[in-house]
Amino acid sequence: MKITPKTKAFGAEISDVDLSGRLSPELREACINALLEHKVIAFPDQKLSDDSLERVSCWLGPFGHDPFIAPIPDREHIIAVCRGAEEKAPIFAENWHTDWSFQAEPPAATCLYGIDIPSCGGDTWYADQIAAAEGLPKALKTMIEGKRAVHSAKLPYAPDGVYGENDRRSDRTMDIRADTSAHATFSHPLLSPHPQTGRERLFGCVGYIIGIEEMPEDEAVPLLMELLAHQTQDEYVYQHQWQQGMLVIWDNRSVLHKATGGYEGQARLLHRTTIQAFA
Ligand SMILES: [Fe+2]
Repeated sequence: MKITPKTKAFGAEISDVDLSGRLSPELREACINALLEHKVIAFPDQKLSDDSLERVSCWLGPFGHDPFIAPIPDREHIIAVCRGAEEKAPIFAENWHTDWSFQAEPPAATCLYGIDIPSCGGDTWYADQIAAAEGLPKALKTMIEGKRAVHSAKLPYAPDGVYGENDRRSDRTMDIRADTSAHATFSHPLLSPHPQTGRERLFGCVGYIIGIEEMPEDEAVPLLMELLAHQTQDEYVYQHQWQQGMLVIWDNRSVLHKATGGYEGQARLLHRTTIQAFA
């Protein structure tokens, strides 16, 4: 297996490996080490059926729990991230986030496999939250140190949320199922050691983060907005370009990500799984 780091400070492409073939413990260890080091790893030119995608995901770790988005038919753990060529609904997941950060134990990683990839646009942007933690201005660090962020899925996934009842009336092709369970909250430290590497990282961002414990909303929201501006500066961002047949795995514990548009008139389809942990 050959690892080629991207020119940016993080992200790498991994070649000379066939993920539809033999999946050895040694290869698994190498993949996880590459993920921990590079945070986003891309395997181009893979031929993965849904069976193969599930097999690779399970080999890395147990599946995470995916709420609010229905799995594809006959699969419990695969979500279709899709958009029709003529679709007019707003782009899905165009805001910065960490997948399912509102869960008590958010998933360690997400796998996304490119099936129909437009000829332009549709990049996924990633922001390195270990570098962002290292680069925190002292005053900002002082304001967030020891603070716990309140995470919730309510802004996107409550019935009155972005993907709620109004969105159900749009032409969105993704099967999103908003419900009242999105109002649940769970808090995580804003700044904490990465559970596997111990490196200090910022975890999550405003959006799924709706407040800060023991801080009035009119103080917390501007602080979270200032923090987001820091977290997603150009120097921390890698813009990933997709190819058909490419599997990308990212470490949800060390990066933020977001979708982008720019492929009007073209369909896009990727299949996604989440990995709970690498135990
Ligand atoms: Fe996401």
